[in-house]
Amino acid sequence: MRVLVVGGAGYIGSHAVYELIRDGHEAVVLDNLSSGYMDLVHPQAVFYKGDTRHAKDLDLVFDNEPIDVVMHFAAKIVVPESMKEPLEYYHNNVEGVRVLLAAMKKHRVKNIVFSSTAAVYGEATGICQEEDETKPINPYGETKLACEKMIEWASLAHGFNHVIFRYFNVAGADASLEIGLMKDQLTHLIPVAIQTVLGIREKLTIYGDDYPTKDGTCIRDYIHVSDLAYAHVLGARYLLEGGKSQTMNLGSNQGYSVLEVAQTVHQIAPLKYDIGPRREGDPATLIASNDRARQHLKWVPEHTLEDIIKSDMAFREKLNRKP
Ligand code: UFG
Repeated sequence: MRVLVVGGAGYIGSHAVYELIRDGHEAVVLDNLSSGYMDLVHPQAVFYKGDTRHAKDLDLVFDNEPIDVVMHFAAKIVVPESMKEPLEYYHNNVEGVRVLLAAMKKHRVKNIVFSSTAAVYGEATGICQEEDETKPINPYGETKLACEKMIEWASLAHGFNHVIFRYFNVAGADASLEIGLMKDQLTHLIPVAIQTVLGIREKLTIYGDDYPTKDGTCIRDYIHVSDLAYAHVLGARYLLEGGKSQTMNLGSNQGYSVLEVAQTVHQIAPLKYDIGPRREGDPATLIASNDRARQHLKWVPEHTLEDIIKSDMAFREKLNRKP
């Protein structure tokens, strides 16, 4: 298959491209490089610099490239930033998808695999099932939910087939260590902890220990980026084989508290951490049920929390060695 990966120069998009190419497919990348890097674009991918909010950029790609499936990764994804810049999040995340769907309609491209997020669940209680109520508590989650609904309505009206993936907490790097989450983008727990271990930061601050959880720190479900990326290959194949449009969680069925993550890192390498105040917009617990992805895609995450931490550490050590 030939896949257009919108946002293929970013962290997760670049991993999807690597998995597609490993699986024998062709990848075309469209990225505006606002937070992506040319270094992350696979050498065998066809690259277009452009913006999914600009119809003419999409026309150029669809006029030149026969595309079977579109994957969308071109979103802004940082919860605290979304609390400060909600309009920017709506513009980038929602308008970007609207223009993309309009271009797909115009060019008769029928299949889309869309990156959504566990943040659509908001304050979940226990394990999130896809049919649970969606009640985001931050603009990031709201923009992704708006996109999910837009895709569903557009599928009904225009005959798109879609797989919507709701990601839980993604970390780690490709085994080749050619790609990973780059240095200047770090706000997420695992890479921040690893930067602390490597002496790039002084300490990790745990945001709040007064949540209604077993140790008072937030619980999240961590998933290795390569497991997540491979799910996209399966999702695209599923659509081309005539699979019904679906929304699926991508997580591990298991939650770890922030303190447990810090302690797991500490067992691998000494980590200095302290407890600070809560961060705005953080729900207490987010854990995925991944039964749907198992059932429809036969997808099973292979990496443990320790694998994820070690993989991020290996990538960050490599980045550190670069001048
Ligand atoms: N955390 C800290 N200290 C830090 C960084 C994070 O204590 O320096 C805590 C956060 O408060 C939170 C947990 O670690 O409780 C995880 O935070 P991240 O910033 O790593 O990730 P989020 O859970 O905020 O968000 C991520 C993705 C979202 C997705 C969500 C789903 O960015 O897209 O996971 O679980 F929706």
